[in-house]
Order: sequence, then C-alpha cells, then structure tokens
Amino acid sequence: MDLKQYITIVEDYPKEGISFKDITTLMDHGEAYKFATDEIVKYAEKVKADIVVGPEARGFIIGCPVAYALEVGFAPVRKPGKLPRETVSVEYDLEYGTDRLTIHKDAIKPGQRVLIVDDLLATGGTIKATIELVEELGGVVAGCAFLIELAYLEGRKKIEGYDVCTLLTYD
Ligand code: PRP
Repeated sequence: MDLKQYITIVEDYPKEGISFKDITTLMDHGEAYKFATDEIVKYAEKVKADIVVGPEARGFIIGCPVAYALEVGFAPVRKPGKLPRETVSVEYDLEYGTDRLTIHKDAIKPGQRVLIVDDLLATGGTIKATIELVEELGGVVAGCAFLIELAYLEGRKKIEGYDVCTLLTYD
C-alpha cells in the first residue's frame, strides 16, 4: 500500500517555511492506519520487542495499537508534570532552547527489549532523549520505528548504531 497518499502536506505550518506532514488523514482511513500498524508490528516481532515506548502525543497514536497487537505493554514518555509517580527525566535541545521528557521510574524492567515508536523522525532530538530514558532504566533498545522520516534533517545521525525502521521517507 502506498501510504504517502494518505499523508497531507500542509505548507507553512506551524510557521513559515515548515512543510508539515499531517498524519490525521492516514489515521481516519482505517485500512491505511491498520496497514501502517501491521508493518511496525512485523518489525517489532523481528527485533523481539517485549514492551513499546512512545513519546507524547503522536507517539501514542502509532505506538499504542502496536502494543495492543503484540499483546505487550506500552510505557508513555511525557513532558514534565504529566506522570503522577516517581520519574526519571532527560533534557534535550530544541531549535530554540531546551525541553525535558520524563518516564515513570518503574516503567521498564532491566533487560527488557524495548521498541520505541513515534510518528516522525525529524532532527532526532526526541528519539535520542527517549533512548536515554530507556537505557537509564536498564532497558535494551531493540529498535526504533517511525511512520515518517524527514531524511534531510539527518535525525539518523543522532542515533547511529541503533536499529531504525521508517515506513515513509521525505528527501
Ligand atoms: C513531533 C513528533 C516527534 C518529534 C520529532 O512531536 O511527533 O515526536 O516532533 O521531532 P525531532 O525528531 O526533531 O525531535 P511534537 O514535539 O511536535 O509533539 P506532539 O506529538 O505532542 O505534537
């Protein structure tokens, strides 16, 4: 299935010069959403993942159905102040300034094989921070799966050495 036809490109959103990839038009086509999910499930089986981790918010949209299909758990990575119990956190760089991501301290058991899932690999800042959280908890990053990769932003360079699967690439 050609998934690209379901992605809507919105020029100059959220600001001028940005070519935004809107995944909501994939999500509202059930057969395309299922196809994308199934492709990531196949990858998860190949890398033998036994838990899925996804950063908010669009990482939940792609990651949760994958966890459901695999019958494994899903651990959310969230912005500060959103998780109610003890967390670990990591700071990461944005275009201007920094931000922070958190995960519950007991979300991953040492040695668990983790699949990290998100909708988009852009600069790689979010995935790199998520990898750091997983590893701080003793998890093993089995692989990283994305619906879309913006290859021109070279996010892969930030996560060299990790196994990466992307379903769609924009050059
Ligand atoms: C987007 C996207 C990824 C991240 C990718 O999330 O969903 O998580 O940016 O960019 P990067 O590779 O440059 O880090 P965003 O921060 O917009 O949050 P949202 O999913 O809550 O909209």
